[in-house]
Amino acid sequence: MSAKENKLDTKSLMPDASGVKQAIAILQSGGLVALPTETVYGLAANALNAQAVQKIFAAKERPSFDPLIVHVPGPTPDWEEWVRMGWLDSSVLKERTLTTLNLWAKDYWPGPLTLILPKGNAIPDAVSSGLTTVGIRMPRSDAMQSVLQGISFPLAAPSANRFGRISPTTASHVLEELNGKIDAVLDGGACNIGVESTIVRPHFKGEEIISLEILRPGAIDPSSLAESGKIPMQAPSTKHFEKTNAPLAPGMLDSHYAPRTPMKWDHAGVSDHAGVSDHSGLSLAVLELPHAAPPPASWSNNTKVLKHAKLSSDPNQAAHELYAVLRDLDALQADLILILGSLPKPEEHPLWHGILDRLTRASHR
Ligand code: TXA
Ligand code: MG
Repeated sequence: MSAKENKLDTKSLMPDASGVKQAIAILQSGGLVALPTETVYGLAANALNAQAVQKIFAAKERPSFDPLIVHVPGPTPDWEEWVRMGWLDSSVLKERTLTTLNLWAKDYWPGPLTLILPKGNAIPDAVSSGLTTVGIRMPRSDAMQSVLQGISFPLAAPSANRFGRISPTTASHVLEELNGKIDAVLDGGACNIGVESTIVRPHFKGEEIISLEILRPGAIDPSSLAESGKIPMQAPSTKHFEKTNAPLAPGMLDSHYAPRTPMKWDHAGVSDHAGVSDHSGLSLAVLELPHAAPPPASWSNNTKVLKHAKLSSDPNQAAHELYAVLRDLDALQADLILILGSLPKPEEHPLWHGILDRLTRASHR
């Protein structure tokens, strides 16, 4: 793209009263501001303004079939008001539905939980990609809450990266991805959690939520969610993660969160991958997982290892640093990013499931 087509440089705002005020002014006039959440940086626009929302899709080069999450002000939900404003459908106010929603909100909001709920008619189709539902999330970061509490509309905000690429967890990551394409970034430092919110689709029977489906794993443990919502169910459904070529949820594509450098798992010794890896003559960037494995036999004297990064065995730290480590390895312009070893089991901590999901998609070609 020529310099002429670019906007002027993206403004960097401090997370103080003046920065928040400037972010609010830009959003009120239909512009785009990247804001820090506790998960990753989001690229925010007025969710009720279809034109502003279109700018998100243009800046990210995101296909229109991939719906956006709508961020709401906290610290407690105001379901009646949100229905009155047309953000949500009135069916969420049915007593038994509301009971479950309030239990979840009490335990997890503000925080990294996105709920897929029937949408109200003020949410344009551009946000929901034409679906009758909308993803609602109450983010926890102070900076984003200050912005949300200073405006009268909710914020549509996908992760602030080019479509399919690595999500940003610092303001400088945002600028690497989108400098000149968005109006401003509010620099709130590194995001605490580091991987995106847990997305949950409640299943309704009549007026009641009877089960839940995890569409994207994150920091929240699915069985705690069921317990918290007092849902009479055996086990939460995670059928989305069964191997399939068709995305069961819109936007949940097999390839996502990807570095530009090809990335693959070393499955040395695993029969269906045997013979695939010959690393002689290649320059490698290595990501070693907490359960280490020895370098594969296919490494030879002329395999050049540019960098060997090790992911923390502490799940919170591992999630916190995951995307920054991937970006570092990607910047080396190696022939290949090779993932060695394996992750602890998801039962040990929900974040291992989230990290496995991201690494699997990042290495999918
Ligand atoms: O932590 C997060 O959730 C971050 C921060 C910025 O809040 N946001 C984020 O947004 O990860 P994004 O656009 O990168 O991912 C949103 C995903 C979509 O790709 C889609 O899979 C799912 O949310 N989604 C959104 N609306 C949906 C809907 N109505 N039904 C099913 N899935 C939906
Ligand atoms: Mg994303």
